[in-house]
Order: sequence, then structure tokens, then C-alpha cells
Amino acid sequence: MTLPEVNRQIVLRQRPVGLLGDDDVELVESPLPQLQDGEALLEVEYLGIDATVRTWLSQAEGYMPPVGFGEVVRSSGIGTVVASRCDTLPVGGPVYSLPGWQEYAVIRDDFLSTPLEPDADKLGLIAIYGATGLTAYIGLFDIGNVQPGETVVVSAAAGATGSLAAQIAKIHGCRVVGICGSDEKASWLLDDLGLDGVVNYRTESVPERLRELCPNRIDVYFDNVGGEVLDAALGRLAQGGRVVLCGAISIYTATQRPPGPRNYFQLINRRGRMQGFLSMDYWDRLPEVRAQLATWVAEGKLTWRTHLFQGLAAAPDALNAMFEGTNIGKIVVKL
Ligand SMILES: NC(=O)c1ccc[n+]([C@@H]2O[C@H](COP(=O)([O-])OP(=O)(O)OC[C@H]3O[C@@H](n4cnc5c(N)ncnc54)[C@H](OP(=O)(O)O)[C@@H]3O)[C@@H](O)[C@H]2O)c1
Repeated sequence: MTLPEVNRQIVLRQRPVGLLGDDDVELVESPLPQLQDGEALLEVEYLGIDATVRTWLSQAEGYMPPVGFGEVVRSSGIGTVVASRCDTLPVGGPVYSLPGWQEYAVIRDDFLSTPLEPDADKLGLIAIYGATGLTAYIGLFDIGNVQPGETVVVSAAAGATGSLAAQIAKIHGCRVVGICGSDEKASWLLDDLGLDGVVNYRTESVPERLRELCPNRIDVYFDNVGGEVLDAALGRLAQGGRVVLCGAISIYTATQRPPGPRNYFQLINRRGRMQGFLSMDYWDRLPEVRAQLATWVAEGKLTWRTHLFQGLAAAPDALNAMFEGTNIGKIVVKL
């Protein structure tokens, strides 16, 4: 196979304020890297657009160092090995990795790269069977200890993680209420995914609607957004309720951190628990979770959607779409 001489990459130029602006990142061309022993060259086919990418572009302390100026924007993705000096990453093999916003990435046989079976469904892995499904599953079961018959509330419920968490809770026999930001999303959640209730947080009072839709209060709140919505859910927590802190997208682009949740003392009154987690810490569980998700999909109990963007240059818009809430399901960039 003849490889191109240049690699196209999107690098960080300045820290964004709010949404990603035109001057914050730049699409550049650089020579295709020469491989060292133990390295392989991945031709990236799909980039998974994750909200956490925006946190890596800020200076704030996180679970990974901020992306530096001139560095390729960090991102998950899937592709095929096209050149290799690594026995365990042979040419032709598909690999799930953290290639960044670029067409070709140097990868190694380390915890960041997971070789896949030759016929792996790459789009499916980005959208459901990889980190996204793992996050929903671990959040509900390991962190939320969700039980049949309980009331579960999920925010960003029409998004990638939320739509899976909401459906899995339904499969598990829970009463599930989703919170989302548009009537189109609300219809999808109610009519297609069969949720028991939906709140449009942009047009409705979340505390009022949670009172109506959760008469027995909330046993598990799967939080993807933080801020006011988290506060409203805390205010409606049931005895022994669990708050699963999966993400806080409402603050990722904020220039000032909002005040802490006003209703946190309900954790005391209700003997509740609030716990954060990172799905990457559960990566060894991926095969088991992937198999369970695939079974539910095959049985017609679980469905997933993608919101596709075309071409590397679309990656910044794809990231912004997540914060504008224009997506239903997983945002993916197809290179
Ligand atoms: N802990 C982990 O290991 C882990 C792993 C993956 C993802 N996550 C977290 O999971 C959350 C969802 O990520 P995802 O990749 O699945 O994204 P997503 O839900 O597909 O997209 C993000 C959604 O968030 C909603 N949103 C955006 N700004 C908001 C705001 N200010 N207030 C309320 N809702 C807002 C939008 O939907 P609406 O129209 O409903 O507003 C948007 O569609 C993120 O917080 C992410 O950081 C955590």
C-alpha cells in the first residue's frame, strides 16, 4: 500500500473560551512520521467526539494533562494499521485508540490501544460497544447499583451515553425519566425508546416536572450535565438514593464555575450517596459489557444512533454541536 507523504492534523493554537472558535485550532499538514521499533501507524477512519475533549483544551486540572499549544487535539478513534514495527499491532488490524484529530497516528502496544478482531464493526464500537456503552453500563450498575422497580432519571438522555443508560435502565425493569433539551429529542425518548416520562429542561421547570413524573422520588440519578439539573434531581432524591456523576457538560464551556449544588444536604436527609467515576478505569470489563450490549441489540431491546460529520475539518464543528445540543446519539467524524 502506498502511503501519502503528508499527514493532516488539527492542532491547538489557543485555549477556547466557550465554544471552539476558528482561531483556537488549525488544520496543518506535516510529514508522515517515521516509525520506531514498537510503533505502528494507524490510518484513522472514525473519530469519537467526546465532551471530555473540550475539558482537555482548557488549562484546568483534569484526569489527563491539558493539550498543549501546537499539539494535536486529543480524541478517541478507530482505524486500521497501515505500517508496523510492532508484532502485536500487525498491518491490516483494526485498533481502537486515542489517535487525536489527525488522519494518521503513531500508536504503541499500550493501555491506550485496543486491537480489535478483523471484522469488528468500527462505527458500532465508537458509538456503543466501546467507551460509550461501557460508561452507561458501569455508571448504572457498578456506581448506581440500580435495581428493578426503581425510578431512574437520566440527563442528556438523548445523547450518546444518556440514551444508552436510559434504555439499559428500562431493560432492567426501572421506571425511567429522561431530561433533554428539545421536543424532537423528547419524542424520540418517549415514542421510540419507551421512556416513562421526559422533561425538556429548556422549556419546562425541572423541579416541578420531576415532582410530577417521579411520585416515589428518584432512586438513581445518572448525571451527565451538572449545574441546575443536578440540583433539581438532588432535591427529589429518594431514601438511599444514588447520584451517579458521569459528566458535567453544563460547566465544560463555562468561564466561571457555578456555585455548588444547593440541595446537597438532601444526601444527608435521604442517606444518599453521590459518586463520580471514569469508565477508563473499567476498561478490562469491556469484553463482558460489549457482549451484553450486543445481545440486547440483537434482541431488539437496545438501539443506538449516530450523528455523523464528514471529514477531519468538521471535527471542531462536531465538538461544538455537542454543546449546542444538536445531536441525537453519538457524534462521530468519518474521515
Ligand atoms: N465518566 C466517564 O467516564 C464518561 C465517559 C463518557 C462521557 N462522559 C460524560 O457523559 C456526558 C455525555 O457525554 P456524551 O459524549 O454522551 O455526549 P452527548 O450526550 O451525546 O452530547 C452532549 C449532550 O449534552 C447536552 N447538553 C449540552 N450542553 C448542556 C447544558 N449546558 N446543560 C444541559 N445539557 C447540555 C446536549 O443535549 P440537550 O439537547 O439535552 O441539551 C448534548 O446533546 C458528558 O458530560 C461526558 O463528559 C463521562
